Amino acid sequence: MQVLSLRISDTKGKRNNMNEKRPFVTKQQAEEIAKQFPTPFHLYDEAGIRENARRLNEAFSWNRGFKEYFAVKATPTPRILQILKEEGCGVDCSSYTELMMSEACGFSGREIMFSSNDTPAEDFVLAEKLGATINLDDITHIAFLEDTIGHIPERICCRYNPGGVFQLGSSEEGFQVMDNPGDAKYGMTREQMTEAYRTLKEKGAKEFGIHAFLASNTISNEYYPELARILFRMAVELKEETGAHITFINLSGGIGVPYRPEQPVNDIAMIGEGVRRAYEEILVPAGMDDVELYTELGRYMLAPYGCLVTRAIHEKNTYKHYIGVDACAANLMRPAIYGAYHHITVLGKEDAPCDHKYDVVGSLCENCDKFAIDRMLPEIEKGDLLVIHDAGAHGFSMGYNYNGKLRSAEILLRPDGSAEMIRRAETPADYFATLDFTGLFENK
Ligand SMILES: Cc1ncc(COP(=O)(O)O)c(C=O)c1O
Repeated sequence: MQVLSLRISDTKGKRNNMNEKRPFVTKQQAEEIAKQFPTPFHLYDEAGIRENARRLNEAFSWNRGFKEYFAVKATPTPRILQILKEEGCGVDCSSYTELMMSEACGFSGREIMFSSNDTPAEDFVLAEKLGATINLDDITHIAFLEDTIGHIPERICCRYNPGGVFQLGSSEEGFQVMDNPGDAKYGMTREQMTEAYRTLKEKGAKEFGIHAFLASNTISNEYYPELARILFRMAVELKEETGAHITFINLSGGIGVPYRPEQPVNDIAMIGEGVRRAYEEILVPAGMDDVELYTELGRYMLAPYGCLVTRAIHEKNTYKHYIGVDACAANLMRPAIYGAYHHITVLGKEDAPCDHKYDVVGSLCENCDKFAIDRMLPEIEKGDLLVIHDAGAHGFSMGYNYNGKLRSAEILLRPDGSAEMIRRAETPADYFATLDFTGLFENK
């Protein structure tokens, strides 16, 4: 892969851990990188990724066996997976190709969780071949898995969905609705969990896990502790009801990041401490003090440590004031599909007054292709570089080829300030690679 060296003195872009929404890259650095790798590109901060992974591991170091299984879907890029592997993480895969990528990156056996739903048979076959821990999304998948691979693995996990609405808080202080599991297609009901454990045990399973993902992008230090309490209580019940040996509980994803400057940053040390208290209150007295805890985070691990760097190429004044950039929703679709807020910094104008109201748009023939609507920003001139923040997870990976748009490169900003291309940009040849024109236009 290509490597671009920058002077180390250029690398002091402020880290983003106080939610100041300062980019981790300076204008000078970004301009240097753009000379070699044209905009738009996704840029990742290796030092930030490593520091954050260490903070997470430290917060859960009280639990013997703790492991983060990084949700590959968030950032399926081998160099990123390698960095996380070096920091002790495993991987959470949800598809055949994610399993293939994880295998190619050297993950095997218990380093892989396979959490999918509506699972094709061949995915189960590969997961079993790699020795991954399979997480069953539905009670009917027990028979399906057995038919597919010929047996039930000794180590197995089931995904729980309690239904209803997941909320935090109390009747005195008020409730905060976090998400709506009752509407989610994932997981088994409480009764099905008991039935599943009994059936799996009869069929030879010896080690059991519990998994649940009840709320997404939570900005609260209480989500994980509350989820842990629910799962720990159920683990005690399941052990009593079925005699299953529960060896791990996977708290899955859902710890959020502050996309907006006014949102607070989650405190991972407090979160780890809250989960520890629940563990000591519920699991330890039940004699379950050897249960390993896992997480399956994507956004928390990567979102703030990646950004989309794009250049302003047009300015248009009609009923609104538009800035057209060279990236579009095909590079980052969260604003277009969820109306998600992504903070924008105009590089070199970090401290300039935000006295211009713009819609920042891409070139797709879709009016939702807007990175920002009525956003107050410093005056933008054509040629300015913009950083679209918090694009490191569920960013590049959700990209698509609508309007024949090509996926951008991914660049890693290393701790020494050098820039390394970790995925090249697509070319028209990539776009046409799956098409066969043979014989179609010969008589024209
Ligand atoms: C099964 C599973 N685990 C983990 C994650 C990661 O979630 P997040 O990036 O919100 O932490 C997802 C995200 O979609 C998921 O579907």
